[in-house]
Amino acid sequence: FAPRHFLSIADLTPAELTTLVRNASSHKQAIKSGSVPKSLVGSLSGKTVAMMFNKRSTRTRVSTEAAVSTMGGHPMFLGKDDIQLGVNESLYDTSLVISSMTSCMVARVGPHSDVADLAKHSAVPVINALSNDYHPLQTIADYLTIHEAFPSGASSSVSGASALGVAGLKIAWVGDSNNVLFDLAIASLKLGVHISVASPKGYEIPASMRDIITNSAAGVQSPGKLTETNVPEEAIKDADILVTDTWVSMGQEEESAKRLKAFAGYQITNDLAKRGGAKEGWKFMHCLPRHPEEVADEVFYSPRSLVFPEAENRLYSAIASLEAFVVNKGKIV
Ligand code: CP
Ligand code: NVA
Repeated sequence: FAPRHFLSIADLTPAELTTLVRNASSHKQAIKSGSVPKSLVGSLSGKTVAMMFNKRSTRTRVSTEAAVSTMGGHPMFLGKDDIQLGVNESLYDTSLVISSMTSCMVARVGPHSDVADLAKHSAVPVINALSNDYHPLQTIADYLTIHEAFPSGASSSVSGASALGVAGLKIAWVGDSNNVLFDLAIASLKLGVHISVASPKGYEIPASMRDIITNSAAGVQSPGKLTETNVPEEAIKDADILVTDTWVSMGQEEESAKRLKAFAGYQITNDLAKRGGAKEGWKFMHCLPRHPEEVADEVFYSPRSLVFPEAENRLYSAIASLEAFVVNKGKIV
């Protein structure tokens, strides 16, 4: 029996992606009104979820641990100084050993090949908790947040609108082309959302990743589109949602000075949104952690900002993903 893994949004069909977000939404409603759905109670009872984190984390760690507890399982956090991985033992050996004793591995790594290798040799499902290329748990939370913030969908009517009601919306990503963007872009194309990316010269989406993003929409009936520019104002035109992330991802600390210089002019401010011509009711999103250089306080702490509900939604993303990949063994229903 080969387990099904969750390494990127590219692993999901549009229908599965929609179902995961919908499940996250209904679990959220039930749990927030005081009752954990019956199907979740004890669903991980007697099961251990290994959380192998080579990098720091607040949201992913807390949401995964809380999700596993809610479902009656045991989250086992294994930080980079806790296990032999990488220092004294290979990924292959580690994967065989840990997967022989647990029901799932949730892994945060550097190179994406590390989580892919872990999955290749694992007897249990592996969930990517952030690699240099993808952050699928973030994207599920992000689309839950968008679904909640735009209950009536896009103002322009779009035929073949997806069941999430997000088709026809426009996201402007202003900043670094990174892991969080790549999975968000893959999801957007699958869901009929236009994602427009502005990054400085030299920090554009790598060609191989652009191919992965566009290919992941192959066969989708009304796919969204990906557009790219080096001019933030161009990306922002008519956008419903402005999104950014740190300019210096974990592992890029040595490039910090160079990056801060290259990204000058990319800070999201009210003035930039106005100059670019964002839609009147535009919203702001950020996966967090945030630094003031990429978004001004006037936006980050304003009523337009969805960042704290977005962070809270990580819990429901984790619950829905564990349910799909561990409890239901990769059947997303
Ligand atoms: N957004 C996110 O993944 O945050 P953490 O790095 O704190 O987990
Ligand atoms: N792009 C960031 C996301 C952190 C959640 C990083 O990789 O550090």
